[in-house]
Amino acid sequence: MIDAERILASQRGAVPRYTSYPTAPHFSAPDGLSIARARLERLPADEPVSLYLHVPFCDRLCWFCGCHTKHTLKYAPVEAYVGALLEEMATVRELAGRRFRLAHLHLGGGSPSMLRQPDIERLARALQDNFRLGADTEISIEIDPSDVTAETLKGFSVLGVTRASVGVQDFSEEVQRAINRPQTFEQTREIIDTLRESGVRSINVDALYGLPLQTEERLVSTIDKVLTLSPDRIALFGYAHVPWMKKHQRLIREEDLPGTIERFHHAGLAADMIAGAGYDRIGIDHFAKPDDSLALAARKGRLFRNFQGYTTDACRTLIGLGASAISSYGDAYVQNIVPTREYENTVRNGKIAAARGVELSVDDRIRAYMIERIMCDFAVSFEAMEERFGDLARPYIAEARLVAATDRFGLSEADDRRFRVREEARRFTRIVASWFDAYLEDSSVRYSKAV
Ligand SMILES: C[S@@+](CC[C@H](N)C(=O)[O-])C[C@H]1O[C@@H](n2cnc3c(N)ncnc32)[C@H](O)[C@@H]1O
Ligand code: SF4
Repeated sequence: MIDAERILASQRGAVPRYTSYPTAPHFSAPDGLSIARARLERLPADEPVSLYLHVPFCDRLCWFCGCHTKHTLKYAPVEAYVGALLEEMATVRELAGRRFRLAHLHLGGGSPSMLRQPDIERLARALQDNFRLGADTEISIEIDPSDVTAETLKGFSVLGVTRASVGVQDFSEEVQRAINRPQTFEQTREIIDTLRESGVRSINVDALYGLPLQTEERLVSTIDKVLTLSPDRIALFGYAHVPWMKKHQRLIREEDLPGTIERFHHAGLAADMIAGAGYDRIGIDHFAKPDDSLALAARKGRLFRNFQGYTTDACRTLIGLGASAISSYGDAYVQNIVPTREYENTVRNGKIAAARGVELSVDDRIRAYMIERIMCDFAVSFEAMEERFGDLARPYIAEARLVAATDRFGLSEADDRRFRVREEARRFTRIVASWFDAYLEDSSVRYSKAV
């Protein structure tokens, strides 16, 4: 029997979400620029890449928000920022000496749905000039239903958006007031209908548990409403309360937050409702209709994890452009300058805005592989480790066996073929993954709750 209360009370109750390994607080090399430049210059000419464009603006600030974004009531700063993004794109092309073929393009934020049509058109032209987009390029975008206009939606349809992720969080008015995010069900449904009519093939909806004033009844009602929208995918995240990093989260009253056990119960309840409606469970926090590409990838063991969460994107290289954006080069990560003004000034001088990074050691690469497989498949195959890393894999296989043999919480097991998270312990997968994290003992970094 798994003792959930004991695990949640342990210090391992707060661990990273492992959208990368090492995680962002450990990108410690101060010279991200030379790491990025070397990688861009030597990328094989025909290898497709993925591109992430970050838009760090919102026309309101939701108090729960953990993203790199800034509140703005004026549009001029957004327009100026788009100009900087175009310059950074051109610099990347110049450094690489060619136009990369794009497999995936993702616009995230902040709120890219704030962009106005002329800026979407400018972005579309610059993308065509600096990269090679094809009919098979997947283009996805994050949408906040309350800031998007019909004109913007038209712009995205011209850009060729294939997937949209719509933020819901919670539909009850009490919770919305406590997080400063008014948004009606009708408004959300209209946006989703328009997106579908304009040819967007796949819709994801984000919902949150662990929010202030969220009761079982309010959560159940929110999930019921989300299900009536029939999204292809649902992301059910636990609210990460990190007021020491995100000062505006202090506007949320701590006494309004559900306790650890209540939050755990809410997470299970919402997940069971979604799975009960016919969705496949994907990794630790995603759900997809069984015929959606994410579900197909999960069944084939072809699911990956990047900074946006779970993905089917198998590209080795993800180039992140914009303030705070992170690039992943397979053997290195680089994060761009975070303050928007400083980012803009840097790219205006014809430079890429890489600030800090990390080059992965052999130890990092083997642990990154193990952690990614555990987060995606709940298991890591020893044969696959040997195939990939040869003899170097041996001590890590021995470590995985030892981890399972000494697991005092009973969350994992190992046999001759693999290490795995026990079926009934999948909700604690982040904790199991953290047992392979060599950086976790660094007490200067604090994380959000694991469940
Ligand atoms: C980068 S936001 C952008 C989406 C868009 N701006 C919106 O709000 O609809 C993507 C998602 O991150 C999630 N998110 C933001 N802050 C979070 C936090 N503190 N904890 C957990 N999830 C969070 C929300 O579910 C949100 O929809
Ligand atoms: S949740 Fe979305 S709309 Fe709200 S502040 Fe964060 S990025 Fe902006």
